[in-house]
Amino acid sequence: MSARDAFYITTPIYYVNGAPHIGHAYTSIAADTAARYNRLRGKQVRFVTGTDEHGQKVLEAATARGMTPQAHCDDMVTGWRATMERLDISFDRFIRTTDDDHEALVKAVLQKLWDAGEIYEDQYVGWYLVKDEVFVTEKEKDERIASGELKPEHFRQIEERNYFFRMSKYKGALVAHIESHPDFIQPVNRRNEVLGFLRKELGDLCISRPKARMSWGIELPFDAEFVTYVWFDALLNYLTATGYTVDGHDGSPWWPVDYQLIGKDILTTHSVYWTTMLLAMEVPLPQHIYAHGWWVSSDGRKMSKSDGNTIDVDLLADSFGVDACRYFFLREIRFGADGGFSYEGFLTRYNADLANDLGNLAHRGLSMTGKWLGGQVPDTAAPAPELQALVAEHVPAALHNYETLQFKEALEAVFALVGAGNKYIDTREPWSLNKQGDTDALAVVMRDVLELCALAGVLLRPVMPTKAAELLGKLGLGDDAVQAAVARLVGSTEGALRLLTPGTAIAAGDPLFPRHREMPAAIAERLAPPRQVDPADLPLPEMDWIEFPDFTKVQLRVGHVVEAGDHPKADKLLVLKVDVGEARPRTICAGIKSRFAPDELVGRKVVVVVNLKPRKMRGIASEGMILAAGDKEVVDLLSVEADAGEVVR
Ligand code: MSP
Repeated sequence: MSARDAFYITTPIYYVNGAPHIGHAYTSIAADTAARYNRLRGKQVRFVTGTDEHGQKVLEAATARGMTPQAHCDDMVTGWRATMERLDISFDRFIRTTDDDHEALVKAVLQKLWDAGEIYEDQYVGWYLVKDEVFVTEKEKDERIASGELKPEHFRQIEERNYFFRMSKYKGALVAHIESHPDFIQPVNRRNEVLGFLRKELGDLCISRPKARMSWGIELPFDAEFVTYVWFDALLNYLTATGYTVDGHDGSPWWPVDYQLIGKDILTTHSVYWTTMLLAMEVPLPQHIYAHGWWVSSDGRKMSKSDGNTIDVDLLADSFGVDACRYFFLREIRFGADGGFSYEGFLTRYNADLANDLGNLAHRGLSMTGKWLGGQVPDTAAPAPELQALVAEHVPAALHNYETLQFKEALEAVFALVGAGNKYIDTREPWSLNKQGDTDALAVVMRDVLELCALAGVLLRPVMPTKAAELLGKLGLGDDAVQAAVARLVGSTEGALRLLTPGTAIAAGDPLFPRHREMPAAIAERLAPPRQVDPADLPLPEMDWIEFPDFTKVQLRVGHVVEAGDHPKADKLLVLKVDVGEARPRTICAGIKSRFAPDELVGRKVVVVVNLKPRKMRGIASEGMILAAGDKEVVDLLSVEADAGEVVR
């Protein structure tokens, strides 16, 4: 296989500390589209995605669930694979950093670099940002706290013996490579960012963790007290997946990888750590590293698990279909730029582009041909010249943009053809041609429209694999024909409107993308403001409940205060004589002096606990208790107007 026939593309491998969300779905859908496009182009494709399972973050997630890290990872990976499959991600390998071949390669690379003197031992003093699993300088820590991006508790101070990779040694070679390969790091603003970063001093990279602090990783082959740094481990997955070995297999035909897709947040780890590791290993650098932007929430923050502001991709896929999601993500923002997500925006684009433009073109083409031309692809001489001109413009644009990962622009080119098709119907008025009985002219129009549908189906295949296949199936085109069509279109657009075989039976069937006049119920429910709760439905607060018989044990009676005076030996107590309807008044010591003067109390009717066992308080036996309001400080006494001695219950 020549290098030109092979295409290797990777996504970052995802941390298994949480479930997949829109950000991960996005990278994967983009990579999948490129992989599918290149397969259609007839290339041998290797598309690798997977999970990054070692490190502090995953260990903490496992610990929080009370699981071993391996059990946690095995459990989480099931969910990740399911999401990838749900999104139709056609990976050739789902790699895990706990896979045996990967662990073996990481150890072999470490040993080789250690033997070559590329790794040395030293004392590390600095800060660790667990969230990103990276070391940062004091200055960077302070800046990121000052900007409000992070809080002091995000950083952990570390001082320990460690192993370092001589990253700084490769700075010059890396800068030279970036400068002589303008397309190496894309888009260009990210390339500039990396060059800017490399203009500052570049230190060496701490690549180990003492097991005593963090043991969930791959052990250093030359020091069993340490595991390797999660990024050193993770980045090597890209080579593991090619079959590369340190002294034999060079990773061909896949290596050097065509495209490594990443998010802009992991630009430095890929453009600097990874590339210098490769330079030290004397392995060619990737052909392209492409950093895409972020999906941000309405307040401009990156959507992430830790911020709890992510979009539930499953909910979107359940409501609109997986292909509509794939289309939206790639069409909505330029690959490389940030984009805000809103469900309303999704609904609008779904209806406008998919239900209206594409759905309409397909429906009109298929149903009009069905009604007026017997439901078969008409046999006509040549397509309308104006359509040929449009095809000559937009098809190469679509293909070129797929080739260079400009998904938005590729889709715009396809939808320019779709829009032109609808306009063509409006101006040619096939319904009038039918009325006039001009069957030849009608056949030309309908053939052109059906061909435009086929062309759009072929060009949309990488983005919407299921829906495109459904559309093409209605037109009698199977996978082989699609593959052949793409191979032909890459060379020339001649014949772009002659993909169909005249006489083929076509079927309108159900609409490809049913219109959603309103937000699908499951989403609307999620978006609805929290419903007002009727106070009557509010639950009672937690209590230490007692049973009724317990309550009846307390005997309460109305008491009439007949005398009141200071307690001779206690500052806070008053001594009261209270008539509770017995032969003599009770003597009661009450801690109410801070609130009541003795005179205020005489004559008041109060509630008395009469079966509280008498107790001496500073020398005076208290024969009951007066009920009062107020927790620490008494604010009032319970008063009743009934006669003294009356039972209270
Ligand atoms: N494990 C590392 C990568 C190691 S690669 C050798 C990692 N994992 S991650 O799960 O945190 O993120 C993986 C990818 O998801 C990154 O490319 C990241 O940019 C992307 N996204 C996460 N949230 C995102 C958005 N809100 N928007 C777009 N993509 C973002 O980093």
